[in-house]
Amino acid sequence: MIRTAGRPANRLVVVSNRVTPPATDSTGSQGGLAVALAAALRQSRGIWFGWSGNQTSEFTGQLNIHRSQGVTTATIDLEERDVDEYYNGYANRTLWPLFHYRIDLTEYDRQFDAGYARVNRRFADTLLHIIEPDDIIWIHDYHLIPLARELRARGIQNRIGFFLHTPWPPVRLLTTMPSHKQLVKSLFDYDLVGFQTAEWMDTFTDYCVREGDGQIGVDGMVSAFGRTVRAGAFPIGIDADAFQKAARSPEARAMAKRMRTSIAGRAMIVGVDRLDYSKGLEERFIGYERFLADNPDELNRVFLLQIAPPSRNTIGSYQEIREKLEQLSGRINGAAAEVDWVPLRYVNRGYSRRELAGIYRSARVGLVTPLRDGMNLVAKEYVAAQDPADPGVLILSRFAGAALQMPEALLVNPYSTEEIADSIRQGLAMDKSQRIRRWETLAEGVAREDVTAWRRDFVAALESTPRS
Ligand code: ADP
Ligand code: F6P
Repeated sequence: MIRTAGRPANRLVVVSNRVTPPATDSTGSQGGLAVALAAALRQSRGIWFGWSGNQTSEFTGQLNIHRSQGVTTATIDLEERDVDEYYNGYANRTLWPLFHYRIDLTEYDRQFDAGYARVNRRFADTLLHIIEPDDIIWIHDYHLIPLARELRARGIQNRIGFFLHTPWPPVRLLTTMPSHKQLVKSLFDYDLVGFQTAEWMDTFTDYCVREGDGQIGVDGMVSAFGRTVRAGAFPIGIDADAFQKAARSPEARAMAKRMRTSIAGRAMIVGVDRLDYSKGLEERFIGYERFLADNPDELNRVFLLQIAPPSRNTIGSYQEIREKLEQLSGRINGAAAEVDWVPLRYVNRGYSRRELAGIYRSARVGLVTPLRDGMNLVAKEYVAAQDPADPGVLILSRFAGAALQMPEALLVNPYSTEEIADSIRQGLAMDKSQRIRRWETLAEGVAREDVTAWRRDFVAALESTPRS
């Protein structure tokens, strides 16, 4: 049994597929979940359990324990078949595209179902050795939806909460999945189910009413399939204090200086995303191309820096989007580049949090245009990193969960390349007083609705959820 010395009465056991040990200077694209959980756990002295990211020839359930900055991580290795069927299969070839409204990319395969169920059982079997009676268990994301059911079947009676980092799809899309009812029913083994926004929660309750003969009660209580669970919206935030500090760190300053030299008096637009088809990168590139075509006076005066580290790169749809973007960036640069200017800098690598903060701070415009996104933390990081005396402009997709909290950004329809082009022009032309006015409201929201508030609100709601 793992104990964290001097722990408070209710220890937080966080479970997610990916576990990234906490470090403010780590390099790479960790994804929003890992970045947020590292921040939340740094503040709460919990334990974080999940997949190590490594493969083994035979599953043993052997725990790898690490302690760093007040956070204990416990990870397990998975078999190659598990990774194929559970992570690359059901999680990222079935649920991820389906939950991001891409049924054209969604694959249904019974082998994936079996792998997903097997890994969730393996997680449950291993977790049994970690969980203590007073622990609060908080399970994250679409990889682990049935985990509470598996834990309950093994006699675990602790409070268990679930938080979905992605959107929840509309009923008509979700019902294309052969095992949709079984999956949704398993959410009713949690005490509390959390969504990023009220919109995703509404689509969930809509499903329960229509497909589970459900009813919505007071205080988020949802009854369906003969069971009851509490649902709520808990918008995730960033560690705004830490990110602002990161933006003033020597590493960030060094990066900002390096960027200033290379920007050479031009205006930089920045995009930072995992290389994922949900991020709208193709439409963004075409929107930027259109902006250049519509505004020839801006040639050689502006450039787009798109940072997009490869993600899930053994999956065909990810290989295809990568190829498309390589072709598009070649087309844009081939058509417009000069001997001393390249319109699009397309970079496929990760940066440390501090370097990233320095890059955001150097950009006149932050271009965040996912086609569909649970929240989007890059939008919040861009705001947190700005210089209050001369902040940049955030252009944000209206289909990102973050748009609900950030109406002072320039909100765009990411499918419209014309809107993207127009908003870039508007962002570059915005005068300083308006930039400051918009940024102050955005920054105040990012600071108030931060990762601490997210964790505190979710855990408080979980602790206060009535139990049947
Ligand atoms: P998602 O969870 O879908 O990846 P988010 O925007 O919510 O999307 O979170 C992405 C996180 O990954 C952010 O914290 C961002 O800073 C980080 N990230 C993305 N690209 C990079 C990169 N090239 N280097 C370092 N961190 C990155
Ligand atoms: O935030 C959504 C999410 O899918 C997380 O669950 C995940 O950790 C992150 O994006 C990055 O994806 P992956 O873990 O597959 O690299």
